[in-house]
Amino acid sequence: MFVATLAHAADFDGWRVAARAALAQGLTPEALTFVVEGEGTLFGENLSLSAGDASTIRVPKAFPDLARLVVCHRDPQRFNLCYRLLWRLQHERRLLEIASDVEVRRAYEMEKAVRRDSHKMKAFVRFREVVEGEGQSHFIAWFEPFHHVVELTAPFFMRRFTGMRWTILTPLRSVHWDGVELRYGPPAPESDKPADDAMETLWLTYYASIFNPARLKVKAMQAEMPQKYWHNLPEAQLIRPLIEGAEAASRRMIETAPTAPGLRHERSRERMDMAVAAARQDEAFGGFNKRPDTLDEARDQASRCRACPLWEPATQTVFGQGPANAPVIFVGEQPGDQEDLAGQPFIGPAGKVFDTALGQAGVDRRQVYVTNAVKHFKFVPRGKRRIHQKPNMGEVKVCRWWLDIERELVKPKLIVALGATAAAAVLGKSVTIRDTRSRLIDLDDGGRLLITVHPAYILRLPDPAAQKAEEQAFHADMALVKETVPEVAA
Ligand code: URA
Repeated sequence: MFVATLAHAADFDGWRVAARAALAQGLTPEALTFVVEGEGTLFGENLSLSAGDASTIRVPKAFPDLARLVVCHRDPQRFNLCYRLLWRLQHERRLLEIASDVEVRRAYEMEKAVRRDSHKMKAFVRFREVVEGEGQSHFIAWFEPFHHVVELTAPFFMRRFTGMRWTILTPLRSVHWDGVELRYGPPAPESDKPADDAMETLWLTYYASIFNPARLKVKAMQAEMPQKYWHNLPEAQLIRPLIEGAEAASRRMIETAPTAPGLRHERSRERMDMAVAAARQDEAFGGFNKRPDTLDEARDQASRCRACPLWEPATQTVFGQGPANAPVIFVGEQPGDQEDLAGQPFIGPAGKVFDTALGQAGVDRRQVYVTNAVKHFKFVPRGKRRIHQKPNMGEVKVCRWWLDIERELVKPKLIVALGATAAAAVLGKSVTIRDTRSRLIDLDDGGRLLITVHPAYILRLPDPAAQKAEEQAFHADMALVKETVPEVAA
């Protein structure tokens, strides 16, 4: 019996090298076994990795992808099974197409289970912030995967949280990202699990705000979020109260649903169809084939939007927020770093300037609808930070799909464009703030538009006197909002 030793429990590369060497030496599956280093010993001759000629080995294209996932399964026979399949494939070229074959079927079952576990890890890992010695933040998560999916899934978190230093601890393996390199380590004891902290509060707020009572299907939700994960999920404590309040909330949503669509709906539909054609991806806008009838439906569709590349590095779609019948819509440019993490518009530094101006003018933010021209955070990673990038006109144009839906469903009397990007998104053409600011402009759909500066512009002004003057002008614009639509008064 020959023994091939693998470096860790999901060591696909090690398996591949050993399997090719064994095949080149003509070793039958019965003559070889795989063992993971540190997981017991097997007596036998160590496999030589250099003997034999591997040049004649052939496998169908689908096999490496299948084997890469199968070796992440918890089944102790996973490496041996992959070798048996590889052996058989040399003579049975179409083996993977024979779904009734016991070994093929088992491999596909294992692949499916691993995919599912990896998906769960992506969905249920929750980072907590730990501030280290020099005031640096480190984000730590504890997760209990069922299969060996840490290596498989870590690149997803690397792409998502490039600018943060983070660690995911699991009882099977740990992984660290320092902004440059992914490093894997041994299993973590439960005592390393970090304590409760502020990230948790942020996450709870986010979860409560995205909870959609009309879509509540308790069984489906429990299948997606099996109870075994609940004890590590801060939001699980919200599930029961949210379920209990769901019926009343659904009723409220039905009562406030928009009335029958009119001419504006038709015009808006034309524009949207053009946007879809421009994106040339039927499935891009969240894979829907039905135009949403409610904001919650639109929010749900937008959460799956793939119409432009901005979705990928972003944490989530940041859809608009506010009452479905708000008389005023405020449109910003795009979510920033904090908005991206929390899933809510205007909650970061620019949001503070915005809130202060509304407060000064006596406008109640709870009475207005707040959204952005572009619904994903566009950024470039720089070290630990994610630096905001202005969206280009193509991205603004594609994302008008969602803004138009929001306008059509909310039917505001007044739209306030915060900055030039927002103004271009509302008007469908570029204008300068200098030429258009603080004037009420009639829109084709019967509503009106007020263009003002973006609150982040005020924050960026280096001269305190200029900043003060701009702040006052911005407050005056907010006062004009209240004068034009008095219903929004606090
Ligand atoms: N800037 C924006 O334009 N929108 C936000 O939501 C936050 C910052």
